[in-house]
Parts: sequence; C-alpha cells; structure tokens
Amino acid sequence: MSDATRVLGIAGSLRAGSLNRSLLRAAVELVPAGMEIRTFEGLGEIPPYNADVEARGDPAPVAAWKEAIRTADALLFVTPEYNYGVPGVLKNAFDWASRPPGKSPLNRKPAGIMGVSGGNSGTARAQLALRQSFVFTETYAMLRPEVFVPRGAEKFDPEGRLTDERTREAVRKFLEALGLWIERFRDTGRPGS
Ligand SMILES: Cc1cc2nc3c(=O)[nH]c(=O)nc-3n(C[C@H](O)[C@H](O)[C@H](O)COP(=O)(O)O)c2cc1C
Repeated sequence: MSDATRVLGIAGSLRAGSLNRSLLRAAVELVPAGMEIRTFEGLGEIPPYNADVEARGDPAPVAAWKEAIRTADALLFVTPEYNYGVPGVLKNAFDWASRPPGKSPLNRKPAGIMGVSGGNSGTARAQLALRQSFVFTETYAMLRPEVFVPRGAEKFDPEGRLTDERTREAVRKFLEALGLWIERFRDTGRPGS
C-alpha cells in the first residue's frame, strides 16, 4: 500500500470544459514526490442540503463525499468565483460535509485553495469566502502561497492543458508548500478522522 500523502482534489465547477477542472488536472500532473491527488467527481450528484433529508440519513452521494474527505489526508479546492463568492454547488457540498457539528470529516483537515477566473480577479474573493466557511470546522486552509489565476482563457490550450509556464511553476510551489503544511498537522488527533 502506498504511504504517499493522499490529497482529495475538488473542482468547484461542474462543466466539462471548466478552467478550474483543468487547473486541478494540472495539479495532478505536477504533484510532487510523496503526494497523490485523487479527484472527487461526485459533486454534481449531491442534493441541495435539507435537514429533514439529513435526519433520515445521508443520501448515498453525500455519504460517498464524506467518506472521500475522511480517508484523505488533505483537501485541495480548485474553485471559480461566482458573483464574488463560492459557487453554490461547492458551498452546498461543504454544508453537507460540515454535519454533524463536532463529527464532521472536515474538522481539522488541512486544505489548500486555488482558482482560475475568466477575468482579472483570479478568484481572490471566492477564496476568501471559502476560508470564512472553514472557520467553524477548523479546516486548516494553507495561508500562503496563494494561487490566483486571472484571465484563464490565455493560460490553457484548447485541450485544457495548462500551458502558461509561470502558472505551472506557481502550482508546483503551491503543492510543495501544501505537503509541508500537511506535515504540520500530522498526529494532531483530528476528531472525525
Ligand atoms: C454565475 C457566474 C458568476 C460569475 N461571477 C464571477 C465573479 O464574481 N468573478 C469572476 O472573476 N468571474 C465570475 N464569473 C466568470 C468565471 O470566472 C468564468 O466563467 C470561469 O471560467 C468559471 O470557471 P470554470 O471555467 O471553472 O467553469 C462568473 C461566471 C458565472 C457562470
């Protein structure tokens, strides 16, 4: 069995041609030795959060989502910015995973955030909004380096491969730093893990 650090990659966009899915694919490609990134593909199957549904038991897509988080050493969110915030599908999935309080698989889980936008912001506001959601679950989002990718259409080829060398280098450095960040939180006795 591999003892590589297991990172669960989550793209906050469902569309097939998503720049953020492409950025996550680039991260998988550029992963440093000793780390593996598995991508979570079930975000679109997670129903809207409803406490009445939750009271009857987590629907299968939610249970799979929570299990994927629980069995990962860390999370890597690669998200667009929608209307200055976190896309609804991602926030909704986060809300399910934050339950029940005290036993959430997100509790004290290390995480990294990156994002690519069509315009100039590079998802800075969405990343800050996501950090805000991490407070209650004490999800340890790495502070720096940050990866904001503006004007995404210029950075990828038509097949979705990240071609911009500066961005590739930023992703490489980000993942190396994430590996060190994850090490800091080893053996801290994460509740829910
Ligand atoms: C509903 C919606 C809201 C958006 N709001 C923002 C925004 O607030 N800031 C921004 O930089 N881009 C915004 N965009 C443009 C996205 O950056 C762009 O569509 C991006 O490519 C989406 O990510 P994706 O390619 O991974 O799907 C928005 C796009 C949509 C569909």
